[in-house]
Formats: sequence, C-alpha cells, structure tokens
Amino acid sequence: MSASPLPRHIAIIMDGNGRWAAAHDLPRSEGHRAGAKAVRKVVTQARLRGIEVLTLYAFSAQNWNRPADEVDRLMALLVEFCEGERDLLMDEGIRFRTVGDRTRLPAETRQAVETLEEITFKNGNMQLLVALSYGGREEIVAAARSLAAQASAGTLDPAAIDETMFAAHLTTAGVPDPDLLVRTSGEFRVSNFLLWQIAYAEIVIESKHWPDYAEADLDRAIDTFANRERRFGGLAPALPSAAP
Ligand code: IPE
Ligand code: IPE
Ligand code: MG
Repeated sequence: MSASPLPRHIAIIMDGNGRWAAAHDLPRSEGHRAGAKAVRKVVTQARLRGIEVLTLYAFSAQNWNRPADEVDRLMALLVEFCEGERDLLMDEGIRFRTVGDRTRLPAETRQAVETLEEITFKNGNMQLLVALSYGGREEIVAAARSLAAQASAGTLDPAAIDETMFAAHLTTAGVPDPDLLVRTSGEFRVSNFLLWQIAYAEIVIESKHWPDYAEADLDRAIDTFANRERRFGGLAPALPSAAP
C-alpha cells in the first residue's frame, strides 16, 4: 500500500485571536499573544511531519486599517517572535522568509524580520513563510506592473508572458503552490491570501480559534488532505473494478 500523500506546502490563515480573547474575557492583545505561542507548536509539528513549506498569514495588507494600538501590538509581537524563535528555527534547520510589503513595516519589525531571514538563510529542512503586510491582489498587481514595465521598455514581448513567467514575478517565486489551505475560527473565506497560488489547494476550515490550534489539529488537517481526491480539472480516477 502506498503512503498517504503528504502536502508539500501547507498555508494557514491564523484567524480568531480576537474571538479567543473575547471568549476568555481578555483584551484582543492577549489573543494575539496566545496566537504567537500557537505558532511555535505548529511550526515544530510541520517540520516533524516533513512538510517542505509552511506559510502563515500573520498580517494582511488590510489589517493596517485596524486601530493603531492593535497594529502596534502586533508589530511588537513580531519582533518578539523573531528574537524568541531564533534558536528553535536554527535547531530545527528551518529557513524563515516573509512575503508582503515590508516597506510598510515599522523599522524595528523590519529589522528583526530581515535579521532572522539572514540568520536562517542556509537552513534546508523546511521553509517558514510568514505573510506580513501581505495581500494577494496587491501581489498580483505588483507582478503585472513589473511585467508591464519590462514590456514598455521593450525588453519583454507581451506574447511571452505565460503562467510560469507570471508566477516567477510573485513573491512566492520558486515555492510550490500550497496543496492544503487551513483557516481557523470557522470563516469560509480567503481574505486576500495567496489568491494566485491557491488555485487548486484543498481547503480545510477548522472551527477552533487560532490560539487553541495545536499539533493534533495539524495532523488531522493532513489526514483530511490525504483522503481528498484532487482532480485538477481532470476526471476522477477510475474505481477499481469489482471482483468477478
Ligand atoms: C487573526 O485574529 C490575527 C490577525 C488578523 C492579525 P483576528 O485578530 O482576526 O481575530 P478575530 O477574527 O477578530 O477573532
Ligand atoms: C485574515 O484574517 C488575515 C490574517 C489571519 C492575518 P482577518 O481577520 O483579517 O480576515 P477577515 O477580516 O475576517 O476577512
Ligand atoms: Mg479575524
């Protein structure tokens, strides 16, 4: 019997920190703090399971519209995360990278992120991509703008633009598309996450809020994925014929 297929790339929309905090009668900031703790468990488990790429949606381009104190708290937590998880990432051989518009990040957060990217650059066991100040539409527009600039400069023939070239202009260039997309806290929406890349991702909606998400939940999502039938627009595989 062949082993169950493992997703190469798992992408997670870490939602529900605010609702978790409300359910515990705590301020939203405590929900974000608890959410940051859950990240460690999931990163460790993904690595243990042999996942190649784990992408975590930490802060969307639209999350800049939240109240300033909440944004400040999230940016400070990111600095704590980069400093606090550095040893774990080195011990586990995990490369850390961010995708998103880092020019909008406060200097301290940007510095912490870039330092961790540099330190973990050579780690090859797993890639941890953190989507930060990230929007799927924004990313697609930036790719289109870059291709249009090359075309108008005469260095690119528009007829040469294909899916491969377009994908190479996204911030996820070189990373396989997510096979499995998980969203916690029960909402059935993608909220501007990896719009191009999730074209054929299998989606798992988890009712737990992100701070309660743990190793066993990731295992369950991986099991669910293993039992999905992916078709990519083709036909369902033929059923084994009944014994005569
Ligand atoms: C996810 O939790 C974290 C971020 C979006 C930064 P939320 O803060 O969105 O929590 P809810 O959705 O309000 O419960
Ligand atoms: C998506 O969650 C962004 C992150 C998890 C970082 P949101 O809470 O921002 O999404 P909406 O507002 O419910 O669509
Ligand atoms: Mg939310």
